[in-house]
Amino acid sequence: MATNLFKQEIAEALANTELFTKEQVLGLMTIPQDPQHGNFSVPCFSLAKTLRKAPKIIAEDLSKQISLPSSVSKCEAINGYLNYYIDPQILLQKILSAVAEQGEKFGHLPSQNKTVIIDYSSPNIGKELAFHHIRSTMIGHALSCIYQAAGYKVIRINHLGDWGTQFGKLIVMYLRAELPTDVESLAKLTVKELNLLYTQFSKAAQKKPEMEDEAREVFAKLEAGDEFYRSLWEAFKEATLKELRRIYKQLGVDFDYYTGESFFEDLIPPVIDELKAKNLLEVSQEREVVMLEDLDLPPCLIRKSDGSTLYATRDLAAAIYRQKEYAFDRCLYVVDQGQALHFKQVFAVLNKMGYAWSKNMVHIPFGLILHQNEDGKWEKGKTRTGSASLLRDVIAAAQEKILEQIQEKNPDLPDAEHVAMQIGVSALTFNDLKNRRLMDVKFDWDSALSFEGATGPYLQNAHVRLCSIQRRAGYQVELSQVDWFHLTDDYSMELVRIIDRKSTRISQAVEHDEPALLAQYALEIAEAAHRFVHHNRVLGSAEEKSRLFLVQCTQIVLKDVLTMLGVYPIEAM
Ligand code: ARG
Repeated sequence: MATNLFKQEIAEALANTELFTKEQVLGLMTIPQDPQHGNFSVPCFSLAKTLRKAPKIIAEDLSKQISLPSSVSKCEAINGYLNYYIDPQILLQKILSAVAEQGEKFGHLPSQNKTVIIDYSSPNIGKELAFHHIRSTMIGHALSCIYQAAGYKVIRINHLGDWGTQFGKLIVMYLRAELPTDVESLAKLTVKELNLLYTQFSKAAQKKPEMEDEAREVFAKLEAGDEFYRSLWEAFKEATLKELRRIYKQLGVDFDYYTGESFFEDLIPPVIDELKAKNLLEVSQEREVVMLEDLDLPPCLIRKSDGSTLYATRDLAAAIYRQKEYAFDRCLYVVDQGQALHFKQVFAVLNKMGYAWSKNMVHIPFGLILHQNEDGKWEKGKTRTGSASLLRDVIAAAQEKILEQIQEKNPDLPDAEHVAMQIGVSALTFNDLKNRRLMDVKFDWDSALSFEGATGPYLQNAHVRLCSIQRRAGYQVELSQVDWFHLTDDYSMELVRIIDRKSTRISQAVEHDEPALLAQYALEIAEAAHRFVHHNRVLGSAEEKSRLFLVQCTQIVLKDVLTMLGVYPIEAM
């Protein structure tokens, strides 16, 4: 950030007075809200006691005596503050030449030598992705990109729910329905069919509760290694993964590892031994548990009476494995708020086991997606028709709605379907990321897909506008061709000041694990860019080259910020 450089220069010059140390100045310095009051401000109140003078007088005296770094055009004393004004041309040059040199990496932070694991999306096998799965998927994806830009080594893990009694249910229902079990038929299985089996099981089990026991027995056999059941389970998993990969591709999401819960099967016995050796395992109501009453938490269930393990047991094994394998400095679980207790328990058990690194594990919760019902009330999980919506249907509908708009406004656009998919997905994604993650998302088609307001299409439009100016210009401007004086108007200066905040916004988003901070930043850039091109004609103006240069720089910055958010920028629409 260019700002840091100027801060250092000012602090050094002020330290020459020997009234402050350089560190003190850096600690005191603020950035005035109103740019009219300069770029930096240093309060002199702390000197009043030693100098036995009013801060107002001290500031006035100092402003006359001190030497100014060459980047500062003036220093004014106002009410006890020293206000520094950076020479606008130097400011512009410092910031924009950094963008031109570093390109999309501008504003990224140097390597932190730290590894962060991000566990996100992590859906259950055999089920279709529901619309709400977009939350963990896109928040997790954005956090991965943001941590990467902040200099972390990022490991992205999809902790698939591919183990547990639900597989007993699926197998029981599959066999009861007398579906074919030969290799070829199994290879053709779809997740849609599996999803249906779940619903059928629930209905059938209401009439025949003994099916629940049957499912538990089947799962116990699967856990014990029954080959036939395993082949079915593998086919279920393959069918689900095929569809998952298709949707992840549409969303532009990727993982380093798909390490499902089943992966930890063999790692569980040693964890249970360790719990026993550390005197943490107790028997309660025939189940083995770790008591957490000292922390006001219910017991963490480790093993049921039939010997089968639980979700928490597998998360314990997974955490220990991740620490051993990747020596993470932080491990984030991007999972809905409903699982807060589960993670508290898992982290508490690890802490009781003596793993100090458990303090580096963080649950990243988020709110629900709400839909409006006929009475105008916002409700969870249901669309107007009453059925929970599937993510694939919502994506397809978004694409279709955008395509209609494109066909109306620009019927000759090449590759319109692909463009519509990208805008549609960016509308859904941005709608999900624009507000703080803990807030519920009120989903409404009209406001999510609008090209006005805080939306994905609005951001895409800003990027397209910047690209189209460059296309129409037909040439690229080099740094040496820029006349900085041509960019000293308010609209250009505002845009450049916003561009300079990129690294601060990245750090803040990491500090709070909050993509919304970067999402809001994307809007700030887009709004300032719109204002700039609205007020300053680029092509054909006397300032064409310099303004075009600012357009180039803004587009690079916006593109990178959007990409980090999983809003993949398009160039024409
Ligand atoms: N499969 C779980 C679910 O759908 C989420 C898993 C989250 N990750 C974890 N390590 N527990 O509810």
